[in-house]
Amino acid sequence: MGFEIFDLAGGGLRGVEKGMRLAIYPGSFDPITNGHVDVISRAASLFDEVLVAVAINDAKQGLFTMEERVEMIRAATGRFPNVKVVAFEGLLVEFARKQGAVAVVRGLRAVSDFEFEFQMALMNRKLEPAIETVFLTPREEYTYLSSRIVKEIARLGGPVDAFVPGPVVEGLRKRLRMGG
Ligand code: PNS
Repeated sequence: MGFEIFDLAGGGLRGVEKGMRLAIYPGSFDPITNGHVDVISRAASLFDEVLVAVAINDAKQGLFTMEERVEMIRAATGRFPNVKVVAFEGLLVEFARKQGAVAVVRGLRAVSDFEFEFQMALMNRKLEPAIETVFLTPREEYTYLSSRIVKEIARLGGPVDAFVPGPVVEGLRKRLRMGG
């Protein structure tokens, strides 16, 4: 088992001070949506620190590079002083344990999310019983949002301004104009 952490673009990992309750919010974030930002804001009000952790998955080619995803998340979450963004590779629970996290946060939009999330939460608990999975539901208006559907709308020339933060709208425009 192993993990590697990449502090892309020098945002700086502060480490967790004693007594601080750190939560990890992992995901692909290809790209971050307003639903993700909503979950991040809820987590930021519940925990002392939230580490948004972008999973590096070589087997899954995304639209955006890891650096771009991290940058867009940083731009979209800069207003939350207790939120940091990093990329990581390897097992989530091992990464979370090494960071000193008490919880993994996941967003739950609809029943269709449940089966996969339930399986992942139980497997993560089996691997690392000390780390809880906490499910947060975004605002109703975001329950139908997903990175995949946003990319499809953007690819087909539809408006995505209401669904993703400004820097992502720009990123999608640039990438799709480039034919990516
Ligand atoms: O945004 P996503 O694609 O739903 O996020 C899934 C993610 C990245 C959280 C999940 O694939 C993950 O935790 N990957 C890290 C590798 C790992 O620990 N896999 C075992 C999960 S039980």
